[in-house]
Amino acid sequence: MRPAWAEIDLDAIAANVSTIAERLSPGAKYLAVVKANAYGHGDVEVARAALGAGASWLGVILPAEGKRLRDAGIDARILLLHEPDPTDADAVVALGLTPSVFTEQGITALDEAAERANKHIAVHLKIDTGLNRLGVPLGRLDQAITALAKASRLEIEGVFSHFAFADQPDHPFIGTQVERFSDGLERLRAHGIQPPLRHLANSAATLTRPETHYDLVRVGIAMYGLAPGAALKDAMPYRPAMSIKARAAMVKRVTKGEGISYGLRYVLERDATIVSVPLGYGDGWVRAAGGKATALIGGRKHPTVGTVCMDSFMVDVGDTPADVGDEVVLLGRQGDEVIAAEDVADTLGTINYEVVTQVSSRMPRVYSGRAMMEGDGRQG
Ligand SMILES: Cc1ncc(COP(=O)(O)O)c(C=O)c1O
Repeated sequence: MRPAWAEIDLDAIAANVSTIAERLSPGAKYLAVVKANAYGHGDVEVARAALGAGASWLGVILPAEGKRLRDAGIDARILLLHEPDPTDADAVVALGLTPSVFTEQGITALDEAAERANKHIAVHLKIDTGLNRLGVPLGRLDQAITALAKASRLEIEGVFSHFAFADQPDHPFIGTQVERFSDGLERLRAHGIQPPLRHLANSAATLTRPETHYDLVRVGIAMYGLAPGAALKDAMPYRPAMSIKARAAMVKRVTKGEGISYGLRYVLERDATIVSVPLGYGDGWVRAAGGKATALIGGRKHPTVGTVCMDSFMVDVGDTPADVGDEVVLLGRQGDEVIAAEDVADTLGTINYEVVTQVSSRMPRVYSGRAMMEGDGRQG
């Protein structure tokens, strides 16, 4: 196997799902958000672990993401959190995916596809309560209701919206969005539409605002053992599921005055041992990390130095003994030391979501945990 990999602890995923599921308001179901290759953790494996631990729905963005889950034999309900492109409508119906809808074109395309397949399909109406990203604006709700009334093959099973704040559960705009959502539900009810699945909560709201649980919660980041924001770092006992590791590809003494990597941007002020680590920006270890991130080698943190290349970067371990093949940890634990996704995120000026999601498909995922054996993906 390649000497650079992401380790995924599926027991951590299962434990996080169980912890969250125990806190849900009575009657609320759990949708595990596994879009973008399960935030970099591996969609099929995470989906199985989550379904085995109490989730009953999966959520992705793209029909192609839903297809990967179906091809792996997962027959749980899968919600497409974005409306599919009209050209994908037939595939969505054939794969038994549950689409979100929010445009008249999207509604018509799905209705026609369902007609062609001689089926009725469930859809979830996505309404915009203030994020201003995707969803029917409340001012256009009547038009959407008219379009849905014409679509005889579509059944409105769900209605949902998404918060603008994923990290600040006390922000006053959360309350505004809850009110707008409730107004939207009221207006739908006035038209005789009372979908059984109303949903609004992301991880942050799931952990801190039980009144937003309604009939379903959509949990992403917390399931991966990461806090949605600094204010939520103690909101549950998170178990981070991903570690990023490698084995030292080369170890050498380099003399004072020599420069390291492209551009020789890091020049040694003393003789030092330099460890070459065999992953780079081609693996999602971004160039911006160069000279800023730290790495664990021999149970201690050391600075990464010089430019990150496509396939490697270097660490200055000073006079610490090191050998080819030594374990290098970029994210996760080594001995008593830990590098958290939040540490990497702070270094890069980003958020923990991006740190794990950006690990590219070129990095093998190595799975551990009983959840790997147990989740059979058939519990939806
Ligand atoms: C529509 C929708 N619901 C839920 C989530 C999950 O959010 P989080 O990862 O903050 O739990 C996302 C993620 O961006 C989303 O787009």
